[in-house]
Amino acid sequence: KPIVLSGAQPSGQLTIGNYLGALRQWDKMQDDYDCLYCIVDLHAITVRQEPAALRSASLDSLALYLACGIDPKRSAVFMQSHVPEHSQLAWVLNCYTQFGELSRMTQFKDKSERHTHNVNAGLFTYPVLMAADILLYQANQIPVGHDQKQHLELARDVATRFNAVHGDIFTVPEPFIPPVAARVMSLQDPTKKMSKSDENPWNFVGLLEDPKMISKKFKKAMTDSEDPPRVRFDLDAKPGVANLLSILSGVTGKGIAALEAEYEGKMYGHLKGDVADAVIALLEPVQKTFTELRADQTTLTTVMRAGAEKARSRAAATLAKVNDAVGFVLP
Ligand code: AQP
Repeated sequence: KPIVLSGAQPSGQLTIGNYLGALRQWDKMQDDYDCLYCIVDLHAITVRQEPAALRSASLDSLALYLACGIDPKRSAVFMQSHVPEHSQLAWVLNCYTQFGELSRMTQFKDKSERHTHNVNAGLFTYPVLMAADILLYQANQIPVGHDQKQHLELARDVATRFNAVHGDIFTVPEPFIPPVAARVMSLQDPTKKMSKSDENPWNFVGLLEDPKMISKKFKKAMTDSEDPPRVRFDLDAKPGVANLLSILSGVTGKGIAALEAEYEGKMYGHLKGDVADAVIALLEPVQKTFTELRADQTTLTTVMRAGAEKARSRAAATLAKVNDAVGFVLP
């Protein structure tokens, strides 16, 4: 089976964006792929985190992965920091990545503008760590949202460059863009993507939020002042309504055209209410399973240790080849 690796940062509570764009696909991929899913805590500290909050968000993420259908019997589920090979390979790859290449990464430009007080070297070399995550497992396919495409391209370039110097060490990974263009946008500023670490909580809907709060957030979502108001999908002129339609389509599986027909002559409030109800219904079983799992530390510990062990044996094999290839004396 082809190998797939993916992960999310425990930099806040996973959102419906992470669910529709990633977690839901991860669950489906388990049937056809050999999957590794990690909680990328090393990546999360590129932005300052409060230690207790990071620890708690990491365990929340683990329980949420499982509640969203990730099956630890089929897939390796683990904390990135439990597999030290990620950091070790990242160091080697740092030495095969150019300063200029990293300077061109749009996420770095974006994050360094938002976190001007902490433009650290980790933020800059984040894509190298991501390349290490992928290349360690010789992953063939990487499910990526549009925002991560540039990073995957870099991972491919670094792998190709390393292979050209040292022989066929790495599998060059292919991007896998999920069939439904699931890019969930911010509720108050629908021209930017929904992010779990957004400082304005009205911009995102977390997977663990209370149903009443979810309704409120959708009710308050930014729309537009088209007169008369029409529920139609127009990304440029009506990004707010388009976002609500995409979310509803993503959650219910109904096509956009069918939804537009369904809301002909109806008001935005109607659409907002239905999106909220659909999201609440989707999350109800997830939240129920989450609550049980999160209270069961023994199970969480067993799962993450077993996941790390599975991942480590594979990661160590690649790292040994790399260390040998670059000329380190093997221990
Ligand atoms: N809004 C989104 N719509 C669709 N997919 C999304 N993803 C993230 N946001 C959306 C996908 O979720 C996976 C995990 O992402 P991540 O946590 O590693 O990093 P991110 O993309 O930076 O996510 P956030 O929520 O925006 O985190 P912060 O706020 O910490 O930067 C990825 O597959 C991503 O494509």
